[in-house]
Amino acid sequence: MKNTNYLIIGSGVAGLTLALRLATQFPGKNITIVTKSNADESNTKYAQGGIAIVIDKNEDSYQKHISDTLICGDGLCDEAVVKMVITEGPKRLKELIEWGAKFDKNPDGNLNLGKEGGHSENRVVHHKDQTGYEIERAILMQTLQKENIIVLDHHFAVDLITEENCCLGITILDEKTKQLQTYKSDFTILATGGIGHLYGHTTNPVIATGDGIAMACRAGATIKEMEFIQFHPTAFYEASTGSKFLISEAVRGFGAYLRTKQGHRFMKDYDSRQELASRDIVSQSIDLELKKSGDDYVYLDCTHLDPEAFKKHFPMIYRHCLTAGIDIAKDWIPVVPAQHYLCGGIVVDTNGRTSVTNLFACGECSQTGLHGANRLASNSLLEALVYSGRIYEYLANPDLEIKTADSKISEKEKVNKPEIDSEYLAELKTKLQYLMRQNAGIVRSDIDLQNAKEQLLKWKNEMEQIERTQQVFVSYYELLNMITIGSLIVSQSLERQENRGGFVKLKMPSFV
Ligand code: FAD
Ligand code: SIN
Repeated sequence: MKNTNYLIIGSGVAGLTLALRLATQFPGKNITIVTKSNADESNTKYAQGGIAIVIDKNEDSYQKHISDTLICGDGLCDEAVVKMVITEGPKRLKELIEWGAKFDKNPDGNLNLGKEGGHSENRVVHHKDQTGYEIERAILMQTLQKENIIVLDHHFAVDLITEENCCLGITILDEKTKQLQTYKSDFTILATGGIGHLYGHTTNPVIATGDGIAMACRAGATIKEMEFIQFHPTAFYEASTGSKFLISEAVRGFGAYLRTKQGHRFMKDYDSRQELASRDIVSQSIDLELKKSGDDYVYLDCTHLDPEAFKKHFPMIYRHCLTAGIDIAKDWIPVVPAQHYLCGGIVVDTNGRTSVTNLFACGECSQTGLHGANRLASNSLLEALVYSGRIYEYLANPDLEIKTADSKISEKEKVNKPEIDSEYLAELKTKLQYLMRQNAGIVRSDIDLQNAKEQLLKWKNEMEQIERTQQVFVSYYELLNMITIGSLIVSQSLERQENRGGFVKLKMPSFV
């Protein structure tokens, strides 16, 4: 058994910035970061567009950003949270710059501000089309220099240890030695990111399997609004499943058009904001167009844009297209909606506290009330930065009392069992992803959802039977977590009776 003061699970923007703040404030305390892959692997690393922050107070205002966020969230945002997050944004950006993150500037030295769907003004602070990579680089470098932070990479958090609704620590699997370890902590923070691989077609990297939310669910934490899955309208079309390359919304902010295969600019038929309508509306419109035409993708047309300026703003997207044989100056880019973000998650208060004592959640795995039924583009990095600041301020309060359950954690005993068949797990994962795409995708129905619910319950029982008889590792735990997340999405979709934002349920199954 090991002891640590602060145990942070996840090394994306939420986990690392919180670790940095705590390490600086409490040089005498130790912070342990547990992360299941390389330390930099995260959704954060792939963020393209940027961070939405009100900078130019002549053109823009907090009120405009608040109003855009509320409209996008379709009546389900918590207005007090929206105000808090948006007004704290500039302070958090300043810290990020102090940690060494660099953002694009205009020749006059002011930050260059991009525009994305649902935003009424240019307010997206960015580093070309690799904003997340730049942020992760800067904060990881700072983290590795702190003597009181230990980063356990390739360590998988399996489960929270709780007693009397109080979190005492976690069980971790060392992926190299395949040994389970127990960590006891004063405070545990889940910063485990999203769920994309549950859908197979996703912009998320493979780490996004919803582990933190599933762990919190098993520990009895409140989980809400899991039905609000955000599908990004423009992932680069590939027939195979897996992580898909994102064509940033900032490209539409830069002037690109969406067209059917026949060349029709269909967004004019759906919303007066056309290509810059919010993400839910654009994805739902593409989905409808594809169902009407039977095509597999629509096109993003950049041929009327200045190619040199495009290359300067979006060098990674330009290169990706060129490698796939598409010259954006002459060819249209095939795009399709793909799972991108989870708006719901582990419910937290404005200090990031979950309903379990001493357990916090931050970033994409949390549900703060900022996003409501649909997240406004580039509000996610902002949310993670603001809430890591809020959690830090709460924990740094000198009057904070540490409440602990009076108990001794017992170590898990190793029992020798035959190793699990990984082929079986891979097949089940493919079936699960297909089920989620078919029955819990952009458009759902109660019949589809009910069928999915029954299937998911069967798989959950099968998985539990496996664990009793076989030695299990990361791929098993991830699959079990994905089944748990699938069940939460399906049951909360069944409960929701009205269509809002990114949630659309029809009376009949979607294939009718
Ligand atoms: P992540 O960055 O995903 O980090 C999660 C961490 O938890 C990872 O280190 C992971 O390995 C670890 N982890 C997970 N489970 C376990 C476990 N069981 N044990 C140990 N470790 C675990 N948002 C914006 O605001 N602006 C953008 O421009 C933008 N662009 C995006 C582009 C892409 C392609 C994608 C995928 C997302 C984008 N987003 C954007 C969303 C945003 O990047 C994420 O929501 C945000 O980075 C999440 O940060 P996080 O720290 O909560 O989680
Ligand atoms: C993008 O660049 O389109 C992604 C922005 C986001 O998810 O906020």
